[in-house]
Amino acid sequence: MMANGFCVEKCYAVITGASSGLGAEFARQLAPSADVLVLVARRTEALETVKAELSGMRAKVLCCVSDLATDAGRHAVSAFLATNGVKPNLLINNAGMGDYGSFASSAAEKTRTQIELNITALTMLTHALLPQLERPAGILNVSSLASTLPMPDLAVYAASKAYVTSFSEALAIELAPAGITVSCVCPGPTPTNFSKSAKRNDGSDTNRDGQALLRISPSQVVREALGALQHGTPCVFPGVGVSIAGRVFRMIPRGLMRWLLKRRARNKD
Ligand SMILES: NC(=O)c1ccc[n+]([C@@H]2O[C@H](COP(=O)([O-])OP(=O)(O)OC[C@H]3O[C@@H](n4cnc5c(N)ncnc54)[C@H](OP(=O)(O)O)[C@@H]3O)[C@@H](O)[C@H]2O)c1
Repeated sequence: MMANGFCVEKCYAVITGASSGLGAEFARQLAPSADVLVLVARRTEALETVKAELSGMRAKVLCCVSDLATDAGRHAVSAFLATNGVKPNLLINNAGMGDYGSFASSAAEKTRTQIELNITALTMLTHALLPQLERPAGILNVSSLASTLPMPDLAVYAASKAYVTSFSEALAIELAPAGITVSCVCPGPTPTNFSKSAKRNDGSDTNRDGQALLRISPSQVVREALGALQHGTPCVFPGVGVSIAGRVFRMIPRGLMRWLLKRRARNKD
């Protein structure tokens, strides 16, 4: 069976990072038509707030409190599904974090956590849930426009998202014959809690020049991401500005890209 697209109607979905931002928005947009939503994140209260907001909608909502940056937390998700008798057919790997500032001055623990969450959790959760995904199934990975270019002062984040896009596009081909649709979404700057948690305590921030042109709402990002999954589109850049930027960044020769990034870094000083 070839995967053409995954229909989210009556889905049993696991959404990571569902306590705020894009993850909570995925829950909001799926709740009127899904059967079950399992919301995963660390903060119990924030998860319960999202759950309360969705009461009265079609979906039964379950909260799974787990730190996905740890092996124990990732195992806890599989155990939670088994305990609650949930057989998912949709996995949305959305949890992720960034760290604004130079790599040299980064806190080792934050860098490790970033890799654990953005790469290891997404990969190992997919690996753990694959055998139990009811077919037809869908996997939607949240990458970033940052996946298309090396980003000084956001180096590990951009590299981790390059992994997510590459991994997703490969899986889309590998899993299609098994009836599993894989899509990834590459949002540009989107107003969520992302910047707050990426900012360091010393106040250093990323350069936001030009970002206003690319910014769209979380609801549009999620609408386009779910549309891509339903149409079987392997990779989507939501919003007109981001879709143009994504195409351009992917076409720019690497040497020219490095020159532009160096100039931008010099202008910052
Ligand atoms: N906002 C943007 O500009 C933007 C642009 C491109 C891509 N993205 C991507 O979009 C995704 C969602 O981010 P967002 O913008 O919605 O930011 P957000 O509002 O900060 O949401 C991040 C979510 O991840 C969860 N999370 C963080 N660490 C976790 C951990 N160790 N274990 C489990 N859950 C964890 C957070 O919940 P708890 O704190 O409760 O654990 C929260 O629900 C990320 O993958 C991000 O890289 C964002």
